[in-house]
Amino acid sequence: MSETEENLPSERESAHEGAVGKTDNPFADPGLPPHEHRIQDIDERAARRSERTVALLFLVSMLATVAFIASYVAIPIDKIIYVFPLGHISALNFALGLTLGVALFCIGAGAVHWARTLMSDVEVADDRHPIEAAPEVKAKVLADFAQGAKESQFGRRKLIRNTMFGALALVPLSGVVLLRDLGPLPEKKLRTTGWKKGVRLVNQSTNLPLRPEDIAVGSLTFAKPEGLEESDEDFANKIAKDALMLVRIQPQNIKDKQELAWSHEGIVAYSKICTHVGCPISLYEQQTHHVLCPCHQSTFDLSDGGRVIFGPAGHALPQLHITVKDGFLEAVSDFAEPVGPSFWERG
Ligand code: FES
Repeated sequence: MSETEENLPSERESAHEGAVGKTDNPFADPGLPPHEHRIQDIDERAARRSERTVALLFLVSMLATVAFIASYVAIPIDKIIYVFPLGHISALNFALGLTLGVALFCIGAGAVHWARTLMSDVEVADDRHPIEAAPEVKAKVLADFAQGAKESQFGRRKLIRNTMFGALALVPLSGVVLLRDLGPLPEKKLRTTGWKKGVRLVNQSTNLPLRPEDIAVGSLTFAKPEGLEESDEDFANKIAKDALMLVRIQPQNIKDKQELAWSHEGIVAYSKICTHVGCPISLYEQQTHHVLCPCHQSTFDLSDGGRVIFGPAGHALPQLHITVKDGFLEAVSDFAEPVGPSFWERG
C-alpha cells in the first residue's frame, strides 16, 4: 500500500469529524468506498501492455501527421474521388481531414489510456482551504505536484514520454505547411484578362463569333474571347476573368461619354463579374438598362458607365472597348482596370 493510501483513513476521519462537529449532522458520512486496484497496479506485465498501447497510439499519430503532409504535397487540388456514403468529394480535403483527425484522435486516446491505466487513481479527500494559499499550502501543492509527477511515471516510462513528445512536436507541422496557401502573390494575374487588341467576341452558348446584328435591343448576350474553349485545362480560371456581357442601348440614351466612345452602334460590353465578391451577373432590365447581381442585389447602370446604383459593390463594372472588323465584334484592348472584386493593391 502506498504512503498516500495509508494516510487516507485518517484524512477521511478528520474530514468526517469536522463536518459532524460543525453542523451536528445526524447522518453518518459514508466516506470514500474502498480503493480497488487495477490490473496494471498489481501486474507489471499488464502495465507494460498498457505502456505499449499508449506508445502505439502516439506512433500512429506521428504517422498520420506525416501522411497529412505527404497528402498536401502529392494530391492535386482538383482531384475528385467517390467515397461512400459521402459521394464525389475532393480527394485532397478528404485526405487532409482524415489524417489530421487520426493524428489528433490518437494523441487524445493515448493520453486518456495512459491516465486510466498507468497514472495513480487513488481517491483523495481534500479539505477546502482559504482562497489565499498559506505558505504551507503552497509547499503542499509543490509536494503534491512532485508526487503526481512521480505517480504518472513520466520519468520512468521513457517510451511513452518520448513518443508523446514526438507526436506533440509533429502535429503543429500540419498547420505550418498550410501557410503555403498564403502565397504566391498573384502579381499581375488580377490585372490582365484574355482580352487584347483584335480578339473576337464569341457567343458563350453557341461558340460562334458575334456580329453587331446578333445583339438585339433588350437582350443580354454573354461572350468570351475567341479561342477559349470549355475543354481548356484552365477554362474555369480564365472565364472567371474573361466573362463578358453585351447589351444594345440607343446611343442617345448612353449618358457616359467614354462609354459611348468604347461602344459600337450602342452595343456596350461589360465584365460579367460582379465587383462585390465576384458572382456572375445574370439579370437585365431593358427599360432602365440596369443589371442585377443575384448574390447580394448589387445593381449597375449600363447606360451610365456601369455605375453602382444599389447594393454592396464597391466600384463600377469595367467596360471593354470594342469595335467591328470584317463584320465581327472584336476587342480594341484589354480592360483598362482589373475586373471583379476589390483587392488591397487595386488602387
Ligand atoms: S457578389 Fe454581387 S452583390 Fe455580392
